[in-house]
Amino acid sequence: MRNSTPAQPGPGGGGLSRRGLLAGGTAAAAATFAATVAGSPAEANGGVAVPHGRSVESFHGPHQGGVATLPQTYAVFLGLDLRKGTDRDALGRLMRLLTDDARRLTEGRPALADTEPELAVLPARLSVTFGFGPGFFTAAEAEDRRPRSLKALPEFKIDKLEKRWSGGDLLVQICSDDAVTLSHALRMIVKDVRAFAEVRWLQRGFRRPPHVEAPGLTQRNLMGQLDGTVNHRPGTPDFDKAVWVADDPAWLRGGTMLVLRRIRMELETWDAVDRVAKEFSVGRRLDTGAPLTGRAEHDPPDFERLNDVGFPVISEFSHVRRAHVADPGLRIFRRAYNYDEGLTARGRSDSGLIFASYQADIERQFVPIQRRLAEVDLLNEWTTPIGSAVFAIPPGCSSSGWIGETLLS
Ligand code: HEM
Repeated sequence: MRNSTPAQPGPGGGGLSRRGLLAGGTAAAAATFAATVAGSPAEANGGVAVPHGRSVESFHGPHQGGVATLPQTYAVFLGLDLRKGTDRDALGRLMRLLTDDARRLTEGRPALADTEPELAVLPARLSVTFGFGPGFFTAAEAEDRRPRSLKALPEFKIDKLEKRWSGGDLLVQICSDDAVTLSHALRMIVKDVRAFAEVRWLQRGFRRPPHVEAPGLTQRNLMGQLDGTVNHRPGTPDFDKAVWVADDPAWLRGGTMLVLRRIRMELETWDAVDRVAKEFSVGRRLDTGAPLTGRAEHDPPDFERLNDVGFPVISEFSHVRRAHVADPGLRIFRRAYNYDEGLTARGRSDSGLIFASYQADIERQFVPIQRRLAEVDLLNEWTTPIGSAVFAIPPGCSSSGWIGETLLS
């Protein structure tokens, strides 16, 4: 896993860094930080969290950031269509340019032609992750190197896909704990791509920030459920096996594959359901996230247990039962974000989940789960997939390399 470290002081100078704080800061300030991280009220600082704006997620390494990275508070997913005439050479130029600016911005340095360099100094764990959609391989004349499972997903009967949230040749995923930083990074990246590609869609998501809830806890989605309990922990052998491409295709070694689904939640009708029915549909409790057969969030579910009248306690039609995968090597890694676009014209909530699933092989890992859920899943009553896109996420690079080099050079 990548580590978060404080950035070197940038042009703005001064400021509290995490390392500086812990090494040389006052006991009161350290106590505040510890209290903040533990999720308890940061009373020593008047209830205000200690800034960690200078924290850096390393851009370099065998894997790109933004996958195994502890999820940041804000995310933007940008889907791009390559312009006609953007050929293999142009793609090489584009990816060098993008890598250079992503490297700078994640390190808390201004982009190459940054018009607001002051906005770059607090990366707040910024990560910039690139992905290649099926059309990228056509433009790069590299069809023979396209991963087998990188193609439009099969049609699922629950889908109501809209073009404005689907497809795309190139993905840029930008995440940060700071919305201002994210906005600035997005603008810099969009300037870089403008001559090569046009924007197809843009999706913004959010989770609870680390000064509100201790980092590493399972997030809540907008239906109120703990979402992400059964997920491999980054850095473990199970995670590595399920997520990173090991050998085929060779250029993608250390990379992964992303399925991005935009799933609308019908919160008005969900609100009309009682708690028992809500918990029954998922198979887990709303308060603790525990399986209906257990007490604590991480208790293993007992799918065999029957109730007094002989029915399974965790329904055969519940979401967790339908989604469960016994083989750890075939699980998916979910790193979802909430979205909320406010209200529709009729005053209804326009919100849901940006469901980001990372796996080494889409066909072997994601598709069978989605097929089972599309067949039967009580949760389908309140969820509708409205967007769908797939991308190969190339491996990371060294400080002298660039993302996409293993495919394009
Ligand atoms: C808005 C849509 C969705 C919501 C609200 C949702 C919610 C949840 C919740 C609350 C859990 C239980 C806690 C946990 O382990 O995270 C869960 C588990 C899971 N979900 Fe979803 N989910 C959604 C869509 C999907 C989709 C599209 C897939 C894959 C195609 C999926 C795959 C899984 C898997 C693999 C698990 C773990 C199952 C287990 O082994 O226990 N979910 N989901």
